[in-house]
Amino acid sequence: MCDIPNIQKKMLKRNNILKLIKKYKTPLWVYNSDVIIKQIKKLKKFDIIRFAQKSCSNIHILKLMKHYNVKIDAVSLGEIKRAMIAGFEPNNNNIVFTSDILEKKVLKEVIKKKIPVNAGSIDMLKQLGKKSPGHAVWIRINPKFGNGHHIKTNTGGDHSKHGIWNPKQALSIIQKYKLNLIGLHIHIGSGVNIKNLYQVCDSMKKNAIQLNTKIQFISAGGGLKIPYSQEEKEANISDYFNKWNNTKKIISSILKCPIQLEIEPGRFLVGQSGILIAKIYAVKTIKKNTFVLINAGFNDLIRPALYGSYHQITVLYKNIKNIHNIPIIRSVIAGPLCESGDVFTVKDTGIILPRNLPKVSPGDYIIIHNTGAYGSSMSSNYNSRPFIPEILYKKKKFKLIRRRQTIQEMLSLETSL
Ligand code: LLP
Repeated sequence: MCDIPNIQKKMLKRNNILKLIKKYKTPLWVYNSDVIIKQIKKLKKFDIIRFAQKSCSNIHILKLMKHYNVKIDAVSLGEIKRAMIAGFEPNNNNIVFTSDILEKKVLKEVIKKKIPVNAGSIDMLKQLGKKSPGHAVWIRINPKFGNGHHIKTNTGGDHSKHGIWNPKQALSIIQKYKLNLIGLHIHIGSGVNIKNLYQVCDSMKKNAIQLNTKIQFISAGGGLKIPYSQEEKEANISDYFNKWNNTKKIISSILKCPIQLEIEPGRFLVGQSGILIAKIYAVKTIKKNTFVLINAGFNDLIRPALYGSYHQITVLYKNIKNIHNIPIIRSVIAGPLCESGDVFTVKDTGIILPRNLPKVSPGDYIIIHNTGAYGSSMSSNYNSRPFIPEILYKKKKFKLIRRRQTIQEMLSLETSL
C-alpha cells in the first residue's frame, strides 16, 4: 500500500514499535537519526548547513545537528536558549537570529551573546544599530516573488510580511549605524517548487551586485521539498548546489571577496525521519463514511488540518495471529478533539478525504509518517491535552528525548499563581 523506505523499515520493526508503545504509551513521536544523518550528507557540498530548528526544535535533535557540524537558525529567545543548551557557541556565526521584529529581551540577548541578526525589517536594523554599533547583521531580502506548498508558507512577494523590500535602504541604515553587514539571505517559502528556488539565484546575484558591498556569506534559505507521497520526488540536490555555487562564484568575483554559501533547511533534514504513533479507540460508520478515531489530534499534528497536508498512514495491528485477507476500507482518520476539522485525511478546505486503508479495530495502531518536520514543534495544548513524548532512534537504540507532559504541569501555570 505505502512505500516506506528501507532505512525507516529497520526502525519500524513490529516488535520495536510494540515495545515502545508498551513503555511510553500512545500517542508518541519517534525520530530516526539515520535518516537525519543521511539528509545532512546530501547537503555536504554547501559551505554551511544551517538547520531551521523551528521544524523540530528538540534539544537532542539540535545536539545531533551540532555533532554533524550543522549550524543553527533561531527565530525566538526560546530557540536561542535551546541552541545554547544544545552546545552551540553563540558567537562565531554558529547561531543566527532570523526575524522581522526584535523584541526587547531578544535584543538584549543578541547583544550580550554577540549573535548575528538576520534582519527582516528596517526597524530591526535601527533598533539594533542604536544599541550595538558594529553588530554583525544579514539583510533578509524579500525578492518580490515567493512560493510554497501552501499560500501560508509562501514568504516572498507583497502579500508576505517577511523580508526587506528595499535592500538599498537597509544598506544605508546599516552604514548610518555602523553595523557590520556580513551576509545576504533570501528565503521564499517552504515546500517550494525547485524551478522557483532556481529563480532565487538570479535575485541574489542582482541584489548583491546592486548593493555592491563586500559580504562574507550568502544564504539560499530553506524550502526544499521532501516526498510526502509516492508520486512526489526529492529535489535534485546536485543541480541545486551547482546553480548556487555558480552564483556564489560570480558574486565573489564581482565583489572581489571570498564568500561562503549557506543553506537553511528545516523540512529536508528532519521531515522524513519522524513518525507519529497513535492508538485506535473507535471505528464508526456515519452513512457512507467510516471514521477511525485515534488518540492523537491536531493539537499534536496540525499540518493536515491547517494546510490539507498529505501524510502517509499505515496500520500496526495489535494482534496479527488471526488476521488474513484484510479488506480495504475507505477510511477517514480523525482525532479526539471537539472539532470536525480534527482529521488527518482532509483537504485544506476542511472537506474530508477518505483513504484506502486495511480494516482496523479499536486497540490497533495508526502510524502517521514523515512527521519529523513541523509535527511536534507545532503542537499545542488545545482541549487541555498534554504534549506527548519524543523518542530518538540512534545506533539501533530508542532513547526518550522528551517525556510526556503531565496534566499537572500543564495546569501549573494557572494553579501556581
Ligand atoms: N528559513 C526561514 C527564514 C524560514 O522561515 C523557514 C521556514 C526555513 C528556513 C525552513 O524552511 P523549510 O526548509 O523547512 O521549508 N509549518 C509549515 C512550514 C513553515 C515554514 C516556516 N519557515 C509546514 O508545516 O509545512
